[in-house]
Amino acid sequence: MTQSFKITLLPGDGIGPEIMAVAVDVLNEIGKQSNLSFEFEEALIGGAAIDARGEPLPPETLEICKQSDAVLLAAIGGYKWDSLPRHLRPETGLLGLRAGLELFANLRPATILPQLIDASSLKREVVEGVDIMVVRELTGGIYFGQPRGIFATETGEKRGVNTMAYTESEIDRIGRVAFETARKRRQKLCSVDKANVLEVSQLWRDRMTALASEYPDVELTHLYVDNAAMQLVRNPRQFDTIVTGNLFGDILSDAAAMLTGSIGMLPSASLGSSGPGVYEPVHGSAPDIAGTDRANPLAMVLSAAMMLRYGLNQSESADRIEEAVLKVLDQDYRTGDIMSEGMTLLGCRAMGDALIQAIGGK
Ligand code: IPM
Ligand code: MG
Repeated sequence: MTQSFKITLLPGDGIGPEIMAVAVDVLNEIGKQSNLSFEFEEALIGGAAIDARGEPLPPETLEICKQSDAVLLAAIGGYKWDSLPRHLRPETGLLGLRAGLELFANLRPATILPQLIDASSLKREVVEGVDIMVVRELTGGIYFGQPRGIFATETGEKRGVNTMAYTESEIDRIGRVAFETARKRRQKLCSVDKANVLEVSQLWRDRMTALASEYPDVELTHLYVDNAAMQLVRNPRQFDTIVTGNLFGDILSDAAAMLTGSIGMLPSASLGSSGPGVYEPVHGSAPDIAGTDRANPLAMVLSAAMMLRYGLNQSESADRIEEAVLKVLDQDYRTGDIMSEGMTLLGCRAMGDALIQAIGGK
């Protein structure tokens, strides 16, 4: 019997539409072979939505997402919209989507692929074998805390304000996702905070420590965020799963991503406690190469694999996509961002064709 899934596609801006087209082809091919059928519906977000509707997250987009089994998002943003007021920026659409779907848990894997090890800016012996999962809290902390704004003081001077706040229940729910994630990996969880200075971090640390008693099989450690940043580039292999708040997670996940040397390879999943998750590459919209068929579609395709694994419970199909990605790399196919000597340079579409072949289609 064919299983059918409703997928919302949010191609967004820049290279978004090009890489999304590859992911859709790959999903259709996997579907044919595994008796899965995907019903795709496209919706507007980011700059594309600003141009067409005057806002970065039109209400109908959120509605379509809520009605679907999972959401695939490519990338948002570009120079064109950078100087608009904050409520009209593409990023505001993305934050609205996260909040609107209550996607409080963001999983960002950073895995070194042996084929691409020389793309890392760190020495081979430092990064070999790195396999980290960053679990970032996504709908709280300083990104959403109140009060926020730029206010006039009594002297007439302006004062910018944001608030880093977490309730116990917000910390506990991301903590549980992180402990469960670590449990399925190498049973090591490092919680990152700034408890030597911030009260919000002290509460974070207290709750993580309390939760640890529910997961005796997982080893919990704590690091201050400055030390964590240093340890990530000093000896990244010490990490298995990292759990941290929204802002620290934003920063550390970029650092972890760059260990792999190829941000164009990294997928992510944003999950709530129920309802559809959003699956998207970690990289941005690369407006400088948009429309030139030079984008790397592999992070987008690996995000589709994460969707199959975490959102649709189709881990076998997810495995097949991940294997196909390794196979095209073994065949020495590379896009420009991961190109090195002796390899064959492919454009975005041709990389898509190579993937379809690797999966066993055509
Ligand atoms: C990310 C991005 C976003 C964030 C921006 C685009 C709002 O940097 O997903 O990491 O800060 O969360
Ligand atoms: Mg970021």
